[in-house]
Amino acid sequence: MEEEVEFEGQLYLKVLAVESLACMSSKAFHVDVGDLGASGGFIVRDESGGLLAYRNSCPHTGAPLNWTPDQFLTRSGRYIQCSIHGAMFMIDSGECFSGPCGGQFLKSLTVIEHAGSAYIRLLEIQKSPSK
Ligand code: FES
Repeated sequence: MEEEVEFEGQLYLKVLAVESLACMSSKAFHVDVGDLGASGGFIVRDESGGLLAYRNSCPHTGAPLNWTPDQFLTRSGRYIQCSIHGAMFMIDSGECFSGPCGGQFLKSLTVIEHAGSAYIRLLEIQKSPSK
């Protein structure tokens, strides 16, 4: 079982080390808590240094957004982009502003940064489809 921390009465699960994750870059994670659930997603560090997390599922077809490991952002690092049909999403909200799923949102996950690692709210992992 991965490491857990409690924050404001909620349990969070460690998903990956983010100490070296630069601003405007992204990294994938996958966690499996056995019978309780599993989740695949990615973490983005925005230009001000904050972390955001989303499930790795494009609202257009439900497919994973990335073709290459950890590559979820446009070349400029300003937007999230689906590699299949090119949909573009705002980093801060996950809203699609260009592409076949315009106006739809990526599923956001609650993330905190603690001691150099990213932690996702356990309840959200448990609700995720196990793939
Ligand atoms: S699957 Fe992402 S834009 Fe079509």
